[in-house]
Amino acid sequence: MKGLILSGGKGTRLRPITHTSAKQLIPVANKPVLFYGIEALATAGIEDVGIIIAPETGEEIRAAAGDGSRFGVHITYIVQDVPAGLAHAVLTAEPFLGDDPFVMYLGDNLLQGGIVDLVERFKTSQCDALILLTPVPDPENYGVAELDGDRVVRLVEKPRSPVSDLALVGVYMFTASVHDAARAITPSARGELEITDAIQNLVDSGLRVEPHIVSGWWKDTGQLADMLEANRLILDVMEARCDGVLEDSQLDGRVVVAAGARLERSTVRGPAIIGAGARLIDAYVGPYTAIGDRCLIESAEVENSILLTGCEVRRLDGRVESSLLGRNVRIVRDGRQPRAYRFMLGDSSEVRVP
Ligand code: TTP
Repeated sequence: MKGLILSGGKGTRLRPITHTSAKQLIPVANKPVLFYGIEALATAGIEDVGIIIAPETGEEIRAAAGDGSRFGVHITYIVQDVPAGLAHAVLTAEPFLGDDPFVMYLGDNLLQGGIVDLVERFKTSQCDALILLTPVPDPENYGVAELDGDRVVRLVEKPRSPVSDLALVGVYMFTASVHDAARAITPSARGELEITDAIQNLVDSGLRVEPHIVSGWWKDTGQLADMLEANRLILDVMEARCDGVLEDSQLDGRVVVAAGARLERSTVRGPAIIGAGARLIDAYVGPYTAIGDRCLIESAEVENSILLTGCEVRRLDGRVESSLLGRNVRIVRDGRQPRAYRFMLGDSSEVRVP
């Protein structure tokens, strides 16, 4: 069985971060989202992994995940020229997948509990596709499945009046029959070859599509609020550890401090993680915060946020919260006159002031 991780796409909902970087590399608890997916496949014994990449962000993904050896897998990179939909990504990967059954994993998704049992179930069942589902309060925002016993009978993408609350989770298992299904469909109203249409085509062709309702949490990190929630969920289950230096500082609760980090007259209230080489000086880092490597927090407070590598937050009056800062972002009070906000922001940046 092979693995296919989708790490192309546009990532419009996470601009401006995605103007310069792949959203799948945004860290959750200081580890790129994508790596959780690769690890899930590796744990399920899948060693041959294809990763779909976009021309713009592919090199960065290659550089981050490499040949896969450190995860115990072999990675083949597959460039998708245009982000023309999940089923288009499957067709792009057909030369890599061949006739093998495969797990398709969306590179910006997180699934608690992994996929070991599911892969086993798929291997022993005679079904042509196994789709993962989870009940959601707002099915109109998802691909939704209608079931008849242990069979999927209908799939609808973002239904106006949903017939069920079972949303499609971004992990799917297919036999090679999905290639013909993906070839048979036409682009949707938003111009994409939808995986829901390809699965519906399998159903309509009389092939067997089985549902599996996931028991743990599932998170699609496609937008800021979800990214922060994923960060909270992962930080909640991390084990406390301190490999850094504490000077007149205090760690409350579940806190991870990486090697080379230094805290001076600071308090970190977990769950939180402080990256390698980060410095906290007269700072407060509150619950559900991931401070990236080599960040500097000085005379400032940060909570429920994700800071990527090399950020600086200094001398602020108010607390920074529910924020996602890209690499090397600087937020500082400079004390100059006239007292005014001074910004240099990339396209589609967002600043909220009290
Ligand atoms: P989405 O989040 O549905 O799409 P997107 O990345 O274009 O984001 P946005 O809606 O904010 O513009 O994609 C789910 C995953 O699949 C994500 O990891 C990107 C990947 N993907 C591809 O690899 N190829 C594609 O053609 C599409 C649409 C998505």
